[in-house]
Amino acid sequence: MDQRAQLERLARRSIDVIVRGQAPSGAYLASPNFPVYRYSWFRDGAFIADAMSHAGEIASAEAFFAWCAGVLEARGERIEALIERRRGGAAIETNEFLHARYTIDGRETGEEWTDFQLDGYGAWLWALDKHRRRYGRSIEPFVAGAALSAAYVAAFGDHPSYDWWEENPDHRHTSTLAAIHAGLRAAAGWPELSADLRSTASHGAVELAELVRADASRLGRLPKWLAGDAVDASLIAVATPFAMLPAHDPLMVATIEAIEEQLVHDGGVHRYASDTYYGGGEWLLLAALLGWHYAAVGRTEEAWAQLEWVAAHATPDGELPEQVDDHLLAPRRQAGWLERWGPVATPLLWSHAMYLTLAVELGVVGPRVEPVTETLATPVIGAPVRPAP
Ligand code: BGC
Repeated sequence: MDQRAQLERLARRSIDVIVRGQAPSGAYLASPNFPVYRYSWFRDGAFIADAMSHAGEIASAEAFFAWCAGVLEARGERIEALIERRRGGAAIETNEFLHARYTIDGRETGEEWTDFQLDGYGAWLWALDKHRRRYGRSIEPFVAGAALSAAYVAAFGDHPSYDWWEENPDHRHTSTLAAIHAGLRAAAGWPELSADLRSTASHGAVELAELVRADASRLGRLPKWLAGDAVDASLIAVATPFAMLPAHDPLMVATIEAIEEQLVHDGGVHRYASDTYYGGGEWLLLAALLGWHYAAVGRTEEAWAQLEWVAAHATPDGELPEQVDDHLLAPRRQAGWLERWGPVATPLLWSHAMYLTLAVELGVVGPRVEPVTETLATPVIGAPVRPAP
């Protein structure tokens, strides 16, 4: 099989892995074979749903959005009470916030976890909006849950929380702020929401963007968290896909250079320089995210190289792990994790999702249904989805 056909086969296999990892409730398991990942995360799920939408797997993406909306609606009163308390200046304990992950039927897991993470509640709104614009689909079925999510991130967006890697709870993380910003910007443009909420969302989005830009001007590039100076590969998402900063913005260009210098090793991408989880390997989803960014800025050859790097790290049966150990930052820390939790999570649905997104972006596979438009201002309610020729 030539290389192009292999890349295409892995994209199709990725859809298959994601479909198998999706529960009838719409929840995507982060990794079906890895005990602590047998739950559905808003963050992972947002990227997975976006990938499935990209590939034209409309029913899968919408089932996930319905699951998210259900989780939020079931907690509507609690969310409103939290927002009220915030308005009144009351202190809120970390364990009172919404969780980062749930069981497939939308319950809290009952296990100890670093659960206060805000980015997913913005990210799924972003994915929903991309989907709506891509196919002119109505968001009506999800709107009650989406409104709660938007109000929640508008109220707590600038609150410290755990980052993408579920660490450092005392900081405001730039990539978290970017996900929230993208969610708020999406909500600000939805005529289905009240004018009040749209206006709150719009102001919130502008404020977060200004906060991040002002802080980044200290360094001439983005920091992992506000007032810090470390680099983190999740910062790629500030431009691609969350568009908080344009990809060509000098702050973004300098951030990508710093990531390339400190975190990229022969195409593999580390999360951050002091990572020790499973020895601090290279994450497939980040290699694909960097490729997506390269594709967006016209560095097409490098985007292909990233796609090929990810494909080269698939298992013989076409599964993509969370990370690989070709180049470890902290090799002595690997064994402890292997003893504690067993082999690295494989397949990781988020890895497959990012590979799939990059593969669609590069035209390795086409979407199963043709996008209607990317620039739709208001949705065409009930617009038919045209099958691809
Ligand atoms: C990662 C998170 C991810 C989770 C499930 C964790 O190890 O740090 O970003 O959401 O795994 O995939």
